[in-house]
Amino acid sequence: MNYIGSKHSLLPFLEKVWREVRDGDEQTACDIFAGTGAVGRMFKRLGLRVIANDFQHYAFALNKAYIEINHQPRFAQLLKAYQLFTNIEAVNSSGKVLALLNSLEGATGFIAENYSPLAKRFYYSRDNAEKADAIRQAIESWREQKLISEAEYFYLLASLLEAIDQVANTASVYGAFLKQFKASALRPLTLKPLELSNHVKGCEVHQRDANDLIREIECDVLYLDPPYNHRQYGANYHVLETIAAYDAPKVSGVTGMRDYQRSRYCQSKRAAEALEDLVVNARTRHILLSYNDEGVLSTEEIKRILKLRGRPKTFKRKYNRFKADNGREYKRDATVEFVHHVRCVK
Ligand SMILES: C[S@@+](CC[C@H](N)C(=O)[O-])C[C@H]1O[C@@H](n2cnc3c(N)ncnc32)[C@H](O)[C@@H]1O
Repeated sequence: MNYIGSKHSLLPFLEKVWREVRDGDEQTACDIFAGTGAVGRMFKRLGLRVIANDFQHYAFALNKAYIEINHQPRFAQLLKAYQLFTNIEAVNSSGKVLALLNSLEGATGFIAENYSPLAKRFYYSRDNAEKADAIRQAIESWREQKLISEAEYFYLLASLLEAIDQVANTASVYGAFLKQFKASALRPLTLKPLELSNHVKGCEVHQRDANDLIREIECDVLYLDPPYNHRQYGANYHVLETIAAYDAPKVSGVTGMRDYQRSRYCQSKRAAEALEDLVVNARTRHILLSYNDEGVLSTEEIKRILKLRGRPKTFKRKYNRFKADNGREYKRDATVEFVHHVRCVK
């Protein structure tokens, strides 16, 4: 998923830094601002037990799938109940269930009524929005009927979120939609199997405010990737939030925005205080913190905060900035991406 602040393309750099600073006997990593789950998945791939967290519903769903699930679910109950579709050709059970969902007829529902041309909003074509409603309703009803487990529920929900993002008619985020449908938005919504990484027992995912959760957990490495600037994730991904929660919220304005939780890390006046509270209360051996040179916090401020726990070391890399496909002119094409490390001795 093309996500503001995603560390997907920085993973080789992050892994290199981690290999340089680790002792080798670390067992638990916490990705407390997990977003798409890219960094938690890296730690899981390296064999660590991961605690992932994000206060957005869609991020929680993605992490529940990618971090907690270790292999393709079997959907035993559901397949038993739907004897009929055992004749669907697919390599495995999850393939069969995804094929069934992909074959559903569109239905009326919150997505079509609020984010498609039916509402004069062009986030999705009417066909894709109605299909998404049908799929979302099926997933919810299977859960209510106890035909799928919690893991299976989040597997399907994450697959829907990934697929619906691929056909969104936006420049990149959901703060606005394009007036004309672009070619990718007219492709049919198609759920695909999730790529799951290796088997690590006991991974857990939370949907909490990071500053609350930090007081309740312990880990060997705490990875911090807070928002860097004023762009609130709740506003920029409000449509995905509603599809994940499917809670029929009150929406308003041209974009159909829902109420959303604001992060202190996006506010210049409150970010330092929030980060200091997080760092001081962390029960961990290492802290790794990603930030760039254009964030609301200066590098000096970050170092001052990390020094409360030990001697910070900074690693840096040039990084192509996140660009929306909206013709906007950017002053710089690249930013400097920092990873700060501190071994907690205080
Ligand atoms: C820079 S993004 C993380 C990106 C992630 N590392 C990735 O690769 O996808 C920051 C994330 O922090 C979450 N967030 C912001 N404030 C938060 C808070 N106070 N508690 C929990 N999550 C928060 C946002 O929802 C967003 O997903």
